[in-house]
Amino acid sequence: MSDLDVVILAAGKGTRMHSDIPKVMHPLAGRPMLAHVIATARSLTTHRIVVVYGHGGETVKDRFKANDIEFVCQEPQLGTGHAVQQALPVLDANTTLVLYGDVPLIDAATLQRLLATKADLALLTMELADPHGYGRIVRDRSGKVTRIVEEKDASAKQRTIREVNTGLLAAATADLRRWLADIGNDNVQGEFYLTDIVASAVRDKANVATASPDNEFEVLGVNSMAQLARVERIYQWEQGQRLMTQGVTLTDPARLDVRGTLSCGRDVTIDIGCIFEGNVVLGDRVSIGAHCVIRESHIGPDSAILPFCHIDEATIGSNCRIGPYSRFRPGNHLSNDVRIGNFVEVKATQIADGSKANHLSYLGDTKIGRNVNVGAGTITCNYDGANKHQTIIEDGAFIGSDTQLVAPVTIAAGATIGAGSTITKDTPPGELTLSRTKQMTIPGWERPKKSKTK
Ligand code: UD1
Ligand code: MG
Repeated sequence: MSDLDVVILAAGKGTRMHSDIPKVMHPLAGRPMLAHVIATARSLTTHRIVVVYGHGGETVKDRFKANDIEFVCQEPQLGTGHAVQQALPVLDANTTLVLYGDVPLIDAATLQRLLATKADLALLTMELADPHGYGRIVRDRSGKVTRIVEEKDASAKQRTIREVNTGLLAAATADLRRWLADIGNDNVQGEFYLTDIVASAVRDKANVATASPDNEFEVLGVNSMAQLARVERIYQWEQGQRLMTQGVTLTDPARLDVRGTLSCGRDVTIDIGCIFEGNVVLGDRVSIGAHCVIRESHIGPDSAILPFCHIDEATIGSNCRIGPYSRFRPGNHLSNDVRIGNFVEVKATQIADGSKANHLSYLGDTKIGRNVNVGAGTITCNYDGANKHQTIIEDGAFIGSDTQLVAPVTIAAGATIGAGSTITKDTPPGELTLSRTKQMTIPGWERPKKSKTK
C-alpha cells in the first residue's frame, strides 16, 4: 500500500527507564527499538514515515537522518493526540497509520490486517485477562465501538472491560484532521488524548472497525529496563523458532542471540550462548560451538567453529576448523581446509587451502599460501610504530615455533624457518633459514647464591 503515511510516536520521556538515552534509542537485538518500528513501517509504505520526537530528540534525528524519514518535534508533550497533531502538516496520503516507537515487536502482517478493514477508523485492540493500565474499548449493545476510555478516567464498571486499546490505529487522513481538531484535555491527566477521536468518529457516523494482533507480545510496550529485557527475550525466542523451523539444531533456543540476520544452510548446529551480529551466513553442516560471537561473516559448508571464538568480518571457506579460543579481527579470508587453533589472533590475513596456525600466534596483514604450517608462538611484526607492513608466506612453507617475521618480509615457497628465529630479510625457497645464537654449554657453571647481607 503506497497511499499510506505512517506516524511513529516517540516523544514520551521514558522516565521509568532511568536513563539519559531517549527510550526509543535503547537497543532491541542490537538496534534501537525505533529502527525495528521504522523497518516495519517501511515494509508497508513507500510514502512518508514521520517520527514525532521530543525529549533528547536530536540524537534520534542524527541516528536516522539517512533513512528517508521525516521528523517533527513535539515540545512540550501534551498527550498522544497532541503528538499526532504535530505530524498533521506533513501528512498527504489518504490513510495514516499510527505506531508507537516503544512498541517494537508489532508485526507487519497484523498491521496489514488492520489496514485491510478499510474502515474510516481502524483500531488495533485485544482481549486481556488483566487489562489494568490500558484504555478500554467501550461498545454499545449491538457491539459497535462507541469510545475509548482511559483507565484513569474509567468508571468501576468500565474497568471490568477486558478489550483494550493497543494504541495503534489507522485512519482516513482527512477525517483524522477533523477529529483531532475537536479534542480537548478535560480529563484526569490533563492530556490531549488520541483516543478521543473515536467518540468524534462515532458522532460523524464514520465506519469504525477493529482488528487484533496474532500474538499478544506484538503490542507489548517498553517502559522500563525489565520490560525491554522481556521484549528482547521474546524477540530472540522468535528468531530461534524461525531457525528451527528451517531445520537448524539449536541446543537451547533460550540461549541464542541474533542481532541482525542469520542465514543457515541445511543441518547447521548452534550450541548455547552464541551471539550473531549483522549479516551472518552459515553454510550446510556448519557447527558453531558454545559461546561464540560471530559478526558480519560468511562460513562455508562443513566448517566447525569450536567454543569461545570471536569472529568479525571474515569469510571462511569449507571444511575449516577454527578454535577453540580464536580471535578474528576484521578482514580475514580463509580458503578451504584451514585450521586456526587456540589463542591465535588473525587480522587482514588471507590463508589458502590446507594451511594451519594451531597455537598462540598473531598473524596480521599476512598472505599465506597453500599447505603452510605456522608453528606455535609465531608472530608477524606488522607494525613499526607508524605504518603497517605485509608478510607473505608462500606455498608449503614451514615456520618453526616462536618465530618473529618482521614485515615487510617474504618467506618463499617450501622454505623452512628454524624455531626461535627473528626473520628480517626475505628467505629463499626450499631452504632452511634460521637466526639464533648457537647453543652452548659452560662447563662447571654454578648458580648464584643468595648473599647473607642483613
Ligand atoms: C496509550 C493510550 C491507551 C492505550 C495505551 C497502550 C492514549 C490517550 N491512551 O496510553 O488507550 O491503552 O497507550 O499502551 O492514547 N507519546 C508522545 N507524546 C506524548 C505522549 C505520548 O509521543 O505527548 C508517545 C509515547 O512515547 C508512546 C506513546 O505515545 O510511544 C504512548 O504514550 P503513553 O504515555 O505510553 O500512553 P498511555 O498513557 O500508556
Ligand atoms: Mg501516558
